[in-house]
Amino acid sequence: MSGKIFLGGGGPDYGVKQELALNYANRHGLIAGATGTGKTVTLQILAEGFSQAGVPVFLADVKGDLSGLAKSGRADHKLHQAFTDRAAQIGFEDYSYGASPVTFWDLFGKQGHPVRTTVSEMGPLLLSRLLELTEAQEGILNIAFRLSDEEGLPLLDLKDLQALLVWVGENRAQLSLRYGNISTASVGAIQRRLLVIENQGASKLFGEPALELSDLMRQDAEGCGMINILASDKLMSAPGLYATFLLWLLSELFEELPEVGDPEKPKLVFFFDEAHLLFDDAPKVLVDKVEQVARLIRSKGVGVYFITQNPADVPEDILGQLGNRIQHALRAFTARDRKNLRLAAETYRENPAFDTEEAIREVGVGEAVTSMLQKKGVPGIVERTLIRPPSSQLGPITAAERKAMLASSDLAGKYDATLDRKSAFEILSARSQQAAQEAEAAEVAAEEQPPAEREYASARRYSGSRVSRSSSRITRRKDTFASAMGEAVIKELKGTTGRRLVRGILGSLFKGR
Ligand SMILES: Nc1ncnc2c1ncn2[C@@H]1O[C@H](COP(=O)(O)OP(=O)(O)OP(=O)(O)O)[C@@H](O)[C@H]1O
Ligand SMILES: [Mg+2]
Repeated sequence: MSGKIFLGGGGPDYGVKQELALNYANRHGLIAGATGTGKTVTLQILAEGFSQAGVPVFLADVKGDLSGLAKSGRADHKLHQAFTDRAAQIGFEDYSYGASPVTFWDLFGKQGHPVRTTVSEMGPLLLSRLLELTEAQEGILNIAFRLSDEEGLPLLDLKDLQALLVWVGENRAQLSLRYGNISTASVGAIQRRLLVIENQGASKLFGEPALELSDLMRQDAEGCGMINILASDKLMSAPGLYATFLLWLLSELFEELPEVGDPEKPKLVFFFDEAHLLFDDAPKVLVDKVEQVARLIRSKGVGVYFITQNPADVPEDILGQLGNRIQHALRAFTARDRKNLRLAAETYRENPAFDTEEAIREVGVGEAVTSMLQKKGVPGIVERTLIRPPSSQLGPITAAERKAMLASSDLAGKYDATLDRKSAFEILSARSQQAAQEAEAAEVAAEEQPPAEREYASARRYSGSRVSRSSSRITRRKDTFASAMGEAVIKELKGTTGRRLVRGILGSLFKGR
């Protein structure tokens, strides 16, 4: 017998238990509804339920109102009566207050442990999306990644990529022969875009120590799944960064986790709030890849739940994969609203007791039209469900409470300080410094030569074109590679370069192994 998460009461008097089966929880889900209809509370009770069942959760806290998960609800809360009345109405006899174990994360390192990844792990496809590059610019970024592999120039942080692009610009004549035209205008455009995302805070995201996925998959001493909350209120002002980061995390989970088939309960559940941001203006290749990841990550035991105001925001192929659905009220003001409402209703297995479309329009706050996967993964008949009240605190904890929790976290100290290892930026700076020194030494040597020889030497130097100098730099790459391998970066290179050279059929979002 596998476990279930209690969602609320359905049926004519809301007395019929509605549950999410844990063994189908990896078949993804959808939480939708207009603003103020109860999506966040639904997310809160689902996170509590998964945690209770020992399943770790990752969620992005867009409005800052989910930190309350870390604190028990209280009888002196203004909604206490409403909550207990609701619990009684749905026959939820053992309703009680309690907190869940929470780990706070923050890309900017303020409201949680810093989360970082390396440029090379992010890969050219996601980075191009983040930078909003044109096709030609994306081509150059691909070349930069390739050079990073071939030349042993690890791309860890943004300044590595910036330095490598400078190098690409300087050597473009030579490189164009190998890779096709590289224009300075395109290289410059990428650099300018890098500045833009740097100003949005992306330099904090790229670097080391990079996030270890196992830190998202922990349980507490009682065996409850850890709820990982990513502070996303500030991040929302850079929606591209938000969407790219979450997509990266998803693809990373896909890559790193072993195949488990259909587990009794998920290994991790990933909630994707403001899911429309993922798909707004996303190129078809990216949507296709998200669709692929969603389909394939299931067998790794990861359940993905999209949260959005309107299900029409999620591309059809992806929507079709979301087996467990909680649809809060949708408004129908305009003709388009009505069309979306009809489309949303059509995706459910009808209940003879009511009209689905009407129900979606009518359900009250904290009430939803639900359909969960049942035996053999068949969608259940649609129900009108009054969602259970949360056990944890409704609304955010205070800044002081958060600070105390961060200080006492098991992960305190692990990610706080940035590590700046020898990588492309350092290697290229050292190279150009060395080149400058060599040039200076040659100058000095020439001064000391008798006048005739000096003239000859300087004439030779003068005729040495930029290209031939840089080509000698390029052919020296084996040495550079070897010396880089001797450094601390050795692990990185083994880890990423090898994989990058054998990129799988799915391309760069999945780094082939
Ligand atoms: N399951 C529930 N039990 C009790 N009260 C609820 C429940 N769901 C919603 N509510 C009440 O409705 C309010 C609004 O719900 P919620 O914040 O979840 O809406 P939302 O859909 O997330 O809105 P927004 O789009 O603005 O983020 C809650 O603050 C709470 O008072
Ligand atoms: Mg909300």
